[in-house]
Amino acid sequence: MDAKNVVLTGFMGTGKTSVGKILSRRLERPLIDLDAAIERKEQKKIREIFESRGEPYFRALEKDAVREAAETSGSVITTGGGVVLDAENMLLLRKRGLIVQLNATPETVFRRVKDSPHRPLLKSGDLLSEITRLFEARAPFYTGADATFDTDGKTASQVAEEILAVLKGKI
Ligand code: S3P
Repeated sequence: MDAKNVVLTGFMGTGKTSVGKILSRRLERPLIDLDAAIERKEQKKIREIFESRGEPYFRALEKDAVREAAETSGSVITTGGGVVLDAENMLLLRKRGLIVQLNATPETVFRRVKDSPHRPLLKSGDLLSEITRLFEARAPFYTGADATFDTDGKTASQVAEEILAVLKGKI
């Protein structure tokens, strides 16, 4: 049987990208970062895509990127925080993948994203309130992962080691 994909999901600022890079190195498996794939294809930053074409257009690109990544095997796939909103995305990613979800409290997310200007969904006034609002609205979608890890107070390396220990023999 082909090696499974490891699919990292979670809210913005839970460390998917950093943890995914470490997992890819440690497992010696290719990394597919969906946001980076979209940016490469469009030759535009995610923020610019949101600004010029709007969120629905971005979500369509995201779905194309999911389709492509889901056909691979043995990859580490890092997703954008909104990928879970689309049930079909999750079906596709599950086909050959284990869903590994990273969690963090809104306060941790706030600390991690407050100085990063590239997140189009978090640009309005009171950042912590905005994160909390979106976090609550999204909570029902961040369920049903194969494994879940809390990342509060941990480095990306610590989280990656925890994941490797749990996934050993399963991927
Ligand atoms: C989004 C999260 C972002 C990016 C886009 C939309 C979301 O990725 O895909 O800005 O809807 O939560 P990160 O989770 O890597 O920040």
